[in-house]
Amino acid sequence: SRQWRGVLNEYRDRLDITDATPVVTLGEGGTPLLPAPALSARTGATVWVKYEGMNPTGSFKDRGMTMAISKAVEHGAKAVICASTGNTSASAAAYATHAGIKAVVLVPEGKIAMGKLSQAIAHNAELLQVQGNFDDCLDIARDLSANYPVHLVNSVNPDRINGQKTAAFEVVEVLEDAPDIHILPVGNAGNYTAYTRGYTEELERGATTKLPRMFGFQAAGSAPLVLGHVVKHPETIASAIRIGNPASWDLALAAREATDGYFGAIDDERILEAYRILAGEVGIFVEPASAISVAGLLERADAGEIPKGSTVVLTVTGHGLKDPQWALRTADGSEIAPTIVPVDTAEIAGVLGLSKA
Ligand code: F0G
Repeated sequence: SRQWRGVLNEYRDRLDITDATPVVTLGEGGTPLLPAPALSARTGATVWVKYEGMNPTGSFKDRGMTMAISKAVEHGAKAVICASTGNTSASAAAYATHAGIKAVVLVPEGKIAMGKLSQAIAHNAELLQVQGNFDDCLDIARDLSANYPVHLVNSVNPDRINGQKTAAFEVVEVLEDAPDIHILPVGNAGNYTAYTRGYTEELERGATTKLPRMFGFQAAGSAPLVLGHVVKHPETIASAIRIGNPASWDLALAAREATDGYFGAIDDERILEAYRILAGEVGIFVEPASAISVAGLLERADAGEIPKGSTVVLTVTGHGLKDPQWALRTADGSEIAPTIVPVDTAEIAGVLGLSKA
């Protein structure tokens, strides 16, 4: 067997790259597609989880960033810029420093998870906390890149979407067809757009028999695509998708149309319930935004919209270690403090309720 070479090398002939493109890779992609028996049992569908937290910086963003940074270097960029709720900035910082260029990242002050903030700083990004929300950060990043020598690597950059479509290729390789339904979280809707493109290309080249129905979920307090209008002050504990004005709005509507898809909204309480189910029953640890895929599945199953026996893939976008604080609370919000015990086997056996065989 050989080492996985990252998505640009693995899918070279299906991406817009040439011999002139330097491949900047940290070995992204090739992530596991895992059966989720507990979710199959709850829904009667065959449920698979695409575990994108297994990418090098812990989120799906690496698939798009390898492409965006490689292209930026090809075009001579010395600095890249992005706005971020945390994962894009962690990824941009890692790939830029690997390529020997500078990353500037704009994040909403106090609103990104500690793990993600730490990553951007560890990877030597110039990180600025903007006194506004993500949408404000993106406006400024676009302004700066239009007027100064910094290359924009948000998902409005088509290289990002192109790299991210490789996740759909990997799903098709494992299932040997497209799933019936694909469910994922939606913020800017870049990834929703990317999967739709990936599956469309697979259908066009005859690798699949169908397009999956694309189901995208937003947090109820940040659900512009569901409401049909911009949300000025988006709120949710799922900080990764706290976005009120999605950058890929029009592309997402077209993708929903093309796939007979769906956009739904899930409240924070249900997101955290799904987070506990995925970690506690399936053994997959994700950040809250990613758990919305599970919450969306359960909501659609309750609504009778998940046919029994159908094949459903959930993308879980970011690793649980990015933002682990949510694991240490119960559903009613009280803190979970692990029991403290003395150095004493008999006493510990007692606490565990064990009696001698
Ligand atoms: N899940 C996670 C963990 C994310 O970080 C994001 C987006 C999404 C889902 C939504 O993806 O924007 O393509 O619809 N995070 C961006 C960031 C905004 O800055 O890291 P999308």
